[in-house]
Amino acid sequence: MAQVMIIGGDVPADLVARLEAEHDIGYGTHADLRSATPHEGIAAAEAMVLIGQPTIDEAVLQRAPRLKVIALRAVGYDKVDLDACARRGVVVCNTPDVLSRAVADLTVGLLLGALRQLRRGVDHASDGWSQGAPKPPLGSDLRGKTVGIVGFGSIGREVARTCAAGFGMRIAYTSRSGPSTSADFPGPGWLPFEDLLALSDVISLHVPLTPETWHLMDEHAFSQMKAGAYLVNTSRGGLVDEPALIAALRAGHLAGAALDVLANEPPDSDNPLLRMDNVLVTPHIGSATVETRRAMAHLAVDNVLRVLTGAPPATPVTTSPTLTSLERGPQ
Ligand code: GLV
Ligand code: GLV
Repeated sequence: MAQVMIIGGDVPADLVARLEAEHDIGYGTHADLRSATPHEGIAAAEAMVLIGQPTIDEAVLQRAPRLKVIALRAVGYDKVDLDACARRGVVVCNTPDVLSRAVADLTVGLLLGALRQLRRGVDHASDGWSQGAPKPPLGSDLRGKTVGIVGFGSIGREVARTCAAGFGMRIAYTSRSGPSTSADFPGPGWLPFEDLLALSDVISLHVPLTPETWHLMDEHAFSQMKAGAYLVNTSRGGLVDEPALIAALRAGHLAGAALDVLANEPPDSDNPLLRMDNVLVTPHIGSATVETRRAMAHLAVDNVLRVLTGAPPATPVTTSPTLTSLERGPQ
């Protein structure tokens, strides 16, 4: 019997029951990971299932000296100090692939919402739909537009498939592994990052946040985007320099943005992006469907059970890409 802590939320009851059949289960909050007085469950924990995005660093690991496995119920692991975990022999697992379709669905929804001026339309209706008030400006067709996909992993590919097959969009993409032989979409296909920026009507971000991809979209990148283009981000807020994005939107250089992630979550209430009528913001809900969150929890629980019995985890965190290789492209 090992102590397993579920931190920052819950997992479905039948999955908890699977853990409980073999282990002691406890619950804690993100704050408990750093509380001044040691949290008993965390001090004893051999495994943690993490819901949400708490920071895991040396200070947290010190409070959990018995820890063997961290199972993120998430694909992104930018808040986890992997080196510190490796030094302590803590295995870190995430939940790739099972959420790709849900995140791609939301991405395409946001893209559609941005190009069709959804926020202005909803605001107009909820403001009374008055004859006197000007109708929102016209939106833009998706068909024939080029979506530039930054990062061509499983989420980026799902976005490409849906945009091409569902909406007749043209696909450009950039990725560290260079042109993909299996990617057969209409449009320019693989491009270096700078060319992708210059050519795309919409840029959609699907790379993980790493030191190299932090502020990938900065003032220079926005200046290279086509006038009247849009930005969609369902990956991580840290990929975008928000003041530079706000400036590009205010200058009218970008027509709009749709963001499921922000630099600070929850954002400061005075973040201008929350108030701009050509910006759609959703509260980090890319994977938030019943089916997908269940599949993610299932995988996290599997990872815990496997590591605690000495088996290799199903989905250990592996490597992360670098922007350098993203820009360099094929070798
Ligand atoms: C959100 O990112 C979550 O994993 O709950
Ligand atoms: C959510 O943001 C995730 O990384 O799964």
